[in-house]
Amino acid sequence: MNLKTEDKEIYDAIEAEKKRQAEGLEMIASENYVSEAVLEAAGSILTNKYAEGYSGHRYYGGCKNIDEIETLAIERLKKLFGCKFANVQPHSGSSANMAAYFAILKPGDKILGQAMNSGGHLTHGAKVSFSGQLFESHTYGINEKTGLIDYDDVMKIAKEVRPKVIMCGFSAYPRQIDFLNFRKIADEVGAYLIADIAHIAGLIATGFHPSPIGVADIVTTTTHKTLRGPRGGVIMTDNEELAAKIDKAVFPGIQGGPLEHIIAAKAVCFKEALEPKFKEYIGQVIGNMRVLSDTLHHLDFDLVTDGSDNHLALIDLRNKDITGADFESALEAAGITVNKNSVPGDDKPPTITSGIRIGTAALTTRGMGPAEMQRIAEMMNMVAENMDDEEKLADIKEEVREMCKKFPI
Ligand SMILES: Cc1ncc(COP(=O)(O)O)c(C=O)c1O
Repeated sequence: MNLKTEDKEIYDAIEAEKKRQAEGLEMIASENYVSEAVLEAAGSILTNKYAEGYSGHRYYGGCKNIDEIETLAIERLKKLFGCKFANVQPHSGSSANMAAYFAILKPGDKILGQAMNSGGHLTHGAKVSFSGQLFESHTYGINEKTGLIDYDDVMKIAKEVRPKVIMCGFSAYPRQIDFLNFRKIADEVGAYLIADIAHIAGLIATGFHPSPIGVADIVTTTTHKTLRGPRGGVIMTDNEELAAKIDKAVFPGIQGGPLEHIIAAKAVCFKEALEPKFKEYIGQVIGNMRVLSDTLHHLDFDLVTDGSDNHLALIDLRNKDITGADFESALEAAGITVNKNSVPGDDKPPTITSGIRIGTAALTTRGMGPAEMQRIAEMMNMVAENMDDEEKLADIKEEVREMCKKFPI
């Protein structure tokens, strides 16, 4: 019995999604295409196994193979980032952040994170998230003119708030993060520093972005963005005492049985990321973003901070007089997937926004290079100039499909 015969509805929906992923330009900055090896581990029989606890200390029998897999994942992750302790069980980036908080905070404690409309994540203290409901959350923003973090301003707010945790690391920030500066601010007010490197993990692992390991007290990340692994999270630290607290916060604190099939897939991803080929890949991701953002700039698109140092860029659409939501829809009609995103000083709600966020991680995995980036920027410009012209958008979609055919997943 297989999926096709057992459950045709789900089979067909997966096939349709496979086609969508193959035939469109995936430019959501937090997405990527995993290798077949990662996919195989994620879809393996390890999903059958309960393994509450940690290697050598499980609450279930039959964990010999699981222990081996989880230990390999931990050792590879430690090598990849050069950290002393790692927990690979968080089901997601949000769970990793929740466990990191619970390791060092009590409900009602103060946290200081970047505001969501400035590129922060929900779990950095947004009121609609557990992080803003269980803790007293405060925010810092970015300079509305430059789009950059104003470290003096963060220091000023930190001194006023005196938080127990400062959170740094963002969902939509196109420039390097100065972790040492954040450390200075945290030290000044006696706060723990957590660095959430969900977006830039691949860049940090390969040396294209300074690392927060040994600088921040705790480092969290997702494994499915630039790191190109399965959907999941991990937590790292160099502090043995904190490592023990983090382990307890993950299990039994917030999770039960770990997803060992995903942990195996994480281990495969870390092995891949340790290879020289992965460093080459990340170099191409950044190079592709340079070409894409330069071309967009020449086509009169306004880029927040005037460009990008990493895998993502934010386009401010106010000079084009179109909203993020409308541009997202029109691009989708042309086979280009992006997400609407607030820009500095945005007066539109998060459901509309004045910008979009774009990334090159997934396109680069397909093997696309500078020539494709240039053409994609031109196609995006054609979409912006023909927002309501269904025929024109369909023509662009056809060109997108042809381009994608040359770069199979
Ligand atoms: C900076 C950052 N942290 C955490 C997360 C949460 O990850 P997940 O969606 O796996 O919960 C994201 C997701 O976009 C993110 O951008």
